[in-house]
Amino acid sequence: MDELNVSRRKFVGGVAAAAGVIGLAPHELFAMRAKVTPRDLEIARDALDDYDAYAKISFNENPYGPPESVMKAMTKAFKYANRYGYPDGGITEAIAKLHGVKPENILLSAGSGEMLDVIGTTFTQGNKKVIGVSPSYMQVYEHVTSVRAEAITLPLTADYKQPISDLIKAAKQHYRDLGFIYLCNPNNPTGRIVTKSEVKELLDGIPADVPVLIDEAYHHFVDNSEYASSVPYVLEGRPVIVTRTFSKIAALAGMRLGYAIARKDIIQQMRPYSMGSISAVVKWGGVAALADTESQAKVKKVTIDLRQSTIAHLKTLGYESIPSDTNFFMVHIKRDVVPVIEAFRKKGVLVGRPFPPMTTHLRVSIGTPDEMERFKVAFKEIMGAGAVGSGNNG
Ligand SMILES: Cc1ncc(COP(=O)(O)O)c(C=O)c1O
Repeated sequence: MDELNVSRRKFVGGVAAAAGVIGLAPHELFAMRAKVTPRDLEIARDALDDYDAYAKISFNENPYGPPESVMKAMTKAFKYANRYGYPDGGITEAIAKLHGVKPENILLSAGSGEMLDVIGTTFTQGNKKVIGVSPSYMQVYEHVTSVRAEAITLPLTADYKQPISDLIKAAKQHYRDLGFIYLCNPNNPTGRIVTKSEVKELLDGIPADVPVLIDEAYHHFVDNSEYASSVPYVLEGRPVIVTRTFSKIAALAGMRLGYAIARKDIIQQMRPYSMGSISAVVKWGGVAALADTESQAKVKKVTIDLRQSTIAHLKTLGYESIPSDTNFFMVHIKRDVVPVIEAFRKKGVLVGRPFPPMTTHLRVSIGTPDEMERFKVAFKEIMGAGAVGSGNNG
């Protein structure tokens, strides 16, 4: 852990650590985004030529694809391809039933990413701010700054957790201009959970009327008794909005389906900003996915097993990883991640993008057993040779 701590001290050092709070101006966020975009575009271009050949462990997807039950339901739903007012399989009702809420507490979106934008737009009207941590799922901050509001991000703790007492402090300090708080649980890119007692501490510690967006995109992979979903807080009547996606465990990333669970008045406030551009096919796929819990349990098990064995393997090579409760993890590679990512790509393995300020960590999604083998072989070649990166800067 020493190496991890050294690296951590480096990246929270200076102004950020002294101030405790980093306010990201729009141009800074766009600068961060710009660093990522050209590489993403390059990969997308390559992918057009040879997409299937890559080991794709960069976007935290389910590498196995939808199970037969879901494929069948979607195939049947193609008969509605030419319709507007088609039967939708009761997707909203099925989601409401799953969570023990009413359909009026559910809002669908084309992937949960769309919902994050909807929430950002809804709750930052009048130049209100969002408060969260960085690194996290930065789309939330990018969207909010693009609609001319402001994101205030706090650094993670030394062990890569979300600093609950600092979030509470910041929420109180910015209460007058605060639109909402963003909590990604478990967090992307670190894979760490916010424990159920920490969520309670946060919700009890902030002013009671502050909306809190709790992004549970990776909920289905968590196997940790200290974690709990935050849906019960919606049922309690708190201004909590939980988002979920069918892109991860349900393997429907390319089909686009996600949703929010919140109080009826909050859903009504958000609804005018949602696009509702969800296809008939994925609605039926979503209903089938919710019913096929057996397939999801299998994906969860094989993913966790592969994550643990890959992390253990990297440890034998001298590389520590951050404990993860998701279908991805971060390994500390002790050198600049940018050339390493490129070296992996040249070997046909797509790994996660850089997540500044964690510039010496590599995010690895859990792919198929074959993809993880290819990752391990490439890792040994790239890291073992010491040929990439300019020495140990971590
Ligand atoms: C934490 C988190 N939230 C939301 C999303 C958005 O996913 P989607 O729009 O596919 O539901 C992602 C995607 O990777 C994510 O990592």
